[in-house]
Amino acid sequence: MKCRSHKHQGRPAGLQVGLLAGLLALSACGGGGGSAAPSPAPSPAPAPAPTPAPAPPPALSALAQLGEAAFNDRTLSGSGRMSCATCHDPAFAHGPPNALAVQIGGQFETEFGLRSSPSIRYLERQPVFEISTLSGGLTADGREDSLAAQSHGVLFNLREFDNANADQLGRRIRASVIAPRFNAVFGSTADAATTVAQLEQALQAFQQEDPRLHPYDSKFDQVQSGRERFTAPELRGQQVFRDPARGACVACHDDTPVGGKPPLFTNFGYAALGVPRNASIPANENPAYFDLGLCGPQRTDLAQRDDLCGLFRTPGLRNVAQRPVFFHNGIFSTLAQVLDFYNTRDTQPERWYPSQAGQVRKFDDLPPRYRANLSTKAPFNGHKPGDKPPMTALDLQDLECFLRTLSDGHVTGTPPASSLCR
Ligand code: HEC
Ligand code: HEC
Repeated sequence: MKCRSHKHQGRPAGLQVGLLAGLLALSACGGGGGSAAPSPAPSPAPAPAPTPAPAPPPALSALAQLGEAAFNDRTLSGSGRMSCATCHDPAFAHGPPNALAVQIGGQFETEFGLRSSPSIRYLERQPVFEISTLSGGLTADGREDSLAAQSHGVLFNLREFDNANADQLGRRIRASVIAPRFNAVFGSTADAATTVAQLEQALQAFQQEDPRLHPYDSKFDQVQSGRERFTAPELRGQQVFRDPARGACVACHDDTPVGGKPPLFTNFGYAALGVPRNASIPANENPAYFDLGLCGPQRTDLAQRDDLCGLFRTPGLRNVAQRPVFFHNGIFSTLAQVLDFYNTRDTQPERWYPSQAGQVRKFDDLPPRYRANLSTKAPFNGHKPGDKPPMTALDLQDLECFLRTLSDGHVTGTPPASSLCR
């Protein structure tokens, strides 16, 4: 994990961060010394045991090894300079390595994306999209049902790899450094469409098999298995996360095990939070353009469903502290801002939305006719401007400490980087 400071770069003009957010921007770096605070847990928690030597990772199948090579291969893109790892960098929890709201791709590296790049860890258990329960699927609008299908989109997307067609990509695969490996797995004679489908299978196998994409070795996981203890602020933060009267985060970011497996901090569902419009996304220069999530325009099969406009998938929160930008449009650049937004969207809307003639233009990224779709449950909870926000400054600080325990690769016994979390 690289150590970076919370630079406020890429924040759109007009967005007020507020003193609180500044105070709460806990550094993920520095620190190191110090002793772990004793656990205030009412029941005696087991003492942290030293981390046992990690079992050697299971060897990847030949297909997944090919997928990994393809994941890192820039020559498969139209520009010859972009690989999957460009936007899903292993050193940044397989998320973007910079604080751009959207990344730039295409044949000439001139095409801005439409959404922020997500981390692609912990998708191995993602269910397929289900309209009846409004859940599952890949991407922020759930339009893809398998990792293979998702990579197909990327390979031919104008804003990403920008291959003209299967023939062109087929030739690129045959000319690439991955060709010998590719031929060893699949042979060398298939037509272009089959070759491309085989590449997609390999990319999928890599993402499904490789334990580095789903290690479940965060501090949270180690606390679950009794090897580690939360500090007092982390434990309080977990309570805020669960408390229906404060964070109420678990209503959507489910923290209970699923099918005997560790939680992913999502219920796989969809909600409209009404996050502010991000003027730094070039597509948003067109005032008539709105990213409406489920009802389009990227997703096309639900375009008639006005009741689904503005809804985006609830992402899992593992490694969320590693993200340089947050939400589907990358509007925020610190976790503290995100939490502050949840807390004060409805009580202090003037801090988040632009004003015109003294009037706050709330929900400026969702046309008024869709506003009935917005989530008004806790933590928003029918609050009005001037009401007391559901969380105190200490709640927000603790909540951030808790979210920081969801990062992979925790070394048992190391204290939190921020003194506020110790
Ligand atoms: C130019 C940056 C870029 C590149 C290159 C890129 N992606 Fe992505 N990726 C994105 C963005 C942006 C999204 C979110 C799309 C959305 O929500 O509509 C995404 C979404 C995904 C998802 C779904 C994540 C989720 O939470 O549902 C997967 C899986 C994925 N990408 C895999 C890949 C693979 C495999 C490659 C290489 C073939 C790749 N990506 C290349 C930017 C990129
Ligand atoms: C009503 C359901 C709901 C509740 C309650 C909720 N969230 Fe979310 N959360 C979402 C959705 C949906 C998104 C994605 C929204 C978007 O991109 O527009 C999201 C996104 C996020 C993100 C950004 C993740 C990323 O990858 O960019 C964070 C962090 C987050 N939520 C934390 C929290 C915390 C902390 C709480 C409690 C204070 C909370 N959420 C409560 C549904 C919810």
